[in-house]
Amino acid sequence: MKKILVTGGAGFIGSHVVRRFVNTYPNYQIINLDKLTYAGNLANLQDVESKPNYQFVKGDIVDADFIDNLFNQENVDAVIHLAAESHVDRSISNPIEFVMTNVVGTVNLLNTARNHWKNDQNKRFYHVSTDEVYGTLGETGLFTEETPYDPHSPYSASKAGSDHFVRAYHDTYRLNTVISNCSNNYGSHHFPEKLIPLAIHNIKNNKPVPVYGKGENIRDWLWVEDHARAIDVIFHQAKPGSTYNIGGHNEWKNIDLIRLLCKIMDEKLGRPDGTSTELISFVTDRAGHDLRYAIDSSKLQRELGWKPSLQFEEGLEKTVDWYLQNEDWLNDVTSGHYQSYYQQQYAGR
Ligand code: NAD
Ligand code: DAU
Repeated sequence: MKKILVTGGAGFIGSHVVRRFVNTYPNYQIINLDKLTYAGNLANLQDVESKPNYQFVKGDIVDADFIDNLFNQENVDAVIHLAAESHVDRSISNPIEFVMTNVVGTVNLLNTARNHWKNDQNKRFYHVSTDEVYGTLGETGLFTEETPYDPHSPYSASKAGSDHFVRAYHDTYRLNTVISNCSNNYGSHHFPEKLIPLAIHNIKNNKPVPVYGKGENIRDWLWVEDHARAIDVIFHQAKPGSTYNIGGHNEWKNIDLIRLLCKIMDEKLGRPDGTSTELISFVTDRAGHDLRYAIDSSKLQRELGWKPSLQFEEGLEKTVDWYLQNEDWLNDVTSGHYQSYYQQQYAGR
């Protein structure tokens, strides 16, 4: 029985990774370690919580003693590290939280893994990172694994810092590490402060859909289950010290994406075509807003045989269906803490 510690497993991507590993590998024990911040929600994992190879531990990766005790109690064979503060706008209003969790928390995990595993190359530390570490692209070109780091937001700077520490632990201490840098994910259980679920939530409730600047920024969208499958493949097959980019080959200008979403929502809600686009509201741009992200994932495709499975239009429709069928989930996560944060943010634009 292999024990895998998944950090941030109650979040958006983490919950898809936990679900995939629990269901695909009954011979692995999956320990989900999560602090349950506003973004962590155990309801995301209701379908696997009673499985014998799943367990949840509440805790903070910033707490070094706690992490050390956990490694003492559980004979952890591998870490898949997703726990993070993940929202760029929050990093602009509260950068310190991002340094603590994303940098200090990651270094705590690396240090504990190093102390417990010594030089055992059968143990593995997998760090899940973002394409935002590469900065921004102009109109052309793609991020490759060789693109120099050039982060602009406190979020991307903190993720870049954590990536550097992961490489330093590999190069200095021979810790068996792997990093992947992925583009924007979308799908079910995505917290509605991020563009797609926020727009779905607002359109459903006839509220303005805030589009930053002129909506001309471009993101490369990937179905979250394709990301979880990529993590599975990389976790099992990548060489120690390697890095893979993961992306959807699916670039969309924000405004075009929102218009497509409005069309889908009109159809699903039985509203006349064009109703939802009237909710689009251009607001003050995000500070330091990166223009364009686009990933070259040919290394992952060539070496490990992974490629995205889903067309964006199909994935977006499935996503809308999930949100419309899971009103309780949406109502739950949009109550309390989140409301005041969103209102504060939106009022300022
Ligand atoms: P999320 O915000 O939905 O989830 C983060 C999870 O981490 C939550 O469950 C939260 O409770 C937990 N967490 C936060 N601080 C913690 C701490 N100090 N200790 C323990 N747990 C803590 O994030 P997500 O969108 O699922 O992203 C997961 C990872 O993937 C992050 O590392 C992010 O940088 C990376 N990533 C995200 C995307 C994306 O599009 N969302 C793309 C590429 C990479
Ligand atoms: O590229 C990977 C990254 O994608 C991840 O590392 C981050 O964790 C994840 O949050 C995401 O970052 P973005 O900043 O790209 O995602 P977000 O959904 O916040 O914004 C997507 C685009 O939409 C971006 O150009 C900003 C814009 N936007 C966002 C919001 C929330 C709007 O126009 N209006 C909005 O209300």
